[in-house]
Amino acid sequence: MIFEQLFDTKSSTYTYVISSGKGREALIIDPVIEHTEEYIKVLDKLELKLVKVLDTHIHADHITGLNELSKRTACSKVMGEKSKSEVIDLKVKDDDEINIENIKLKTIYTPGHTDCSYSYLMNDRVFTGDTLLINGTGRTDFQNGSAHEAYDSLFGKLLKLPEETLVYPAHDYNGKKHSTIGNEKNNNPRLQVSSKEEYAEIMDNLNLANPKMMDVAVPANLKGLTLKELGN
Ligand code: FE2
Repeated sequence: MIFEQLFDTKSSTYTYVISSGKGREALIIDPVIEHTEEYIKVLDKLELKLVKVLDTHIHADHITGLNELSKRTACSKVMGEKSKSEVIDLKVKDDDEINIENIKLKTIYTPGHTDCSYSYLMNDRVFTGDTLLINGTGRTDFQNGSAHEAYDSLFGKLLKLPEETLVYPAHDYNGKKHSTIGNEKNNNPRLQVSSKEEYAEIMDNLNLANPKMMDVAVPANLKGLTLKELGN
């Protein structure tokens, strides 16, 4: 299997290039627009045919590479059905499958960080977007986020996966590349709570500043525009 984890230093975003092998179909998860050329080079080097590109949710901290990649390769743009993006070709529901050659991803609706946050399970690993981070969890104070829903997504869905399941998040700010469900369950400080109310109490008192790019990234990502096209 081909599994490339690429990193955007500006937004600390992880992007994943996935394929069952050289010369076959590929899928990219959470691309960042500035790295479009880099992704194309990876695809070319491995002779991959990009057929689908997927965002785990509407990002507030970077412009998605979905549209540029789709223009360059004619791949389909995929998001969960709750996404308000106006440019998605295929919207998947909870428990749907996303297929590319020899690879299956199961969709898990995991709202809380945003109301359009989905996770994707692929065999031994799960792409958690910003719902579950390594030693952290996604903030819940904008984009229709909800600490109560996040608690249900975490404790009712993601933490119920087998403990050895590998966790691949959309971001890490400390250089960590992956974790496991067991490790997060036992060590993630946000998850050492005994009730939904206790979790909400933590999340409602984080007092974080808004992401620097939020005011432009969210509208650009909803409309599938670049910053220039948005007038910035
Ligand atoms: Fe996010």
